[in-house]
Amino acid sequence: MTTGAANIADTATARGSRAALQARESLASLKARYPWPTERPSESPILWSLDYGGRRLVTDAIASRGVNVLLEIGSFLGGSARQWLAASREVVVVCVDPWPDLIDPGAGIAAHRIGRAYRDQLHAPEGVYRSFISSMWDVRHRIVHVRGMSLDVLPELHSLGLRPDMVYIDADKKGHEIPVCDELFPDAVIAGDDWNWSDGYSFPIRDPASRSARRRGRRLKCVGTTWLIDDGPWTIRERLLQLQSSPRSLTQAAHSLMRRLNGTTSSGRRR
Ligand SMILES: C[S@@+](CC[C@H](N)C(=O)[O-])C[C@H]1O[C@@H](n2cnc3c(N)ncnc32)[C@H](O)[C@@H]1O
Repeated sequence: MTTGAANIADTATARGSRAALQARESLASLKARYPWPTERPSESPILWSLDYGGRRLVTDAIASRGVNVLLEIGSFLGGSARQWLAASREVVVVCVDPWPDLIDPGAGIAAHRIGRAYRDQLHAPEGVYRSFISSMWDVRHRIVHVRGMSLDVLPELHSLGLRPDMVYIDADKKGHEIPVCDELFPDAVIAGDDWNWSDGYSFPIRDPASRSARRRGRRLKCVGTTWLIDDGPWTIRERLLQLQSSPRSLTQAAHSLMRRLNGTTSSGRRR
């Protein structure tokens, strides 16, 4: 290696080590600020991921880009967070969710066999939060759990030094977090769910996600209901994933259209 090339390599290595040190320190601050309870709650663990397709786009990116810290907004029982942990042994997931009590059963939960099987557990006071803690207990050393609404907690997480490599958004489907993440975490890959979720009139996540891609001068990739804003072109593998998921996407689009024609919301209620 020439001296110039060696210097560049040294500088890159030094920058990489500084970033790794900074990531470790910020995770330590976050873990101290948001500790796990000392005991596992008595609730049964529930393995349930609300996966409606296309998450390979995210898991592939976690593995291929060496994602070490992933910020997830909207974790529910931790099913998706587990998928991210499985994609790489290195990744730590910061889960943000208010984990509110389920006042209204919601058609989505009642319609699912797991939701029905754990109905009483999930509807008890603190049932969702305690179920999340119990479900993620065995992987708690790789999870920071932050109980709160995204817009309330993101500035604090940033001030504690959090600089995620990736942000995955699966919250209230409106995407209010996207411009905030653009501002706070300009270097992170932003991804999320709900590309095909419609209130019957529009697809609310599409506009903020598309605007973010334009702001960042990057490509918006969608596979099934998953979207990801990327700095590189589509790979062949991603195009294949997209083709595979097409029938499911068409079914979801057809359901949205039916809801619109019937004047019902996604939970089956009349508007
Ligand atoms: C569809 S669920 C997430 C499912 C989970 N990602 C999975 O696939 O297993 C949506 C979650 O977003 C949470 N949520 C809603 N609004 C939020 C907000 N503003 N900030 C953080 N979480 C929010 C809800 O409490 C709920 O647990």
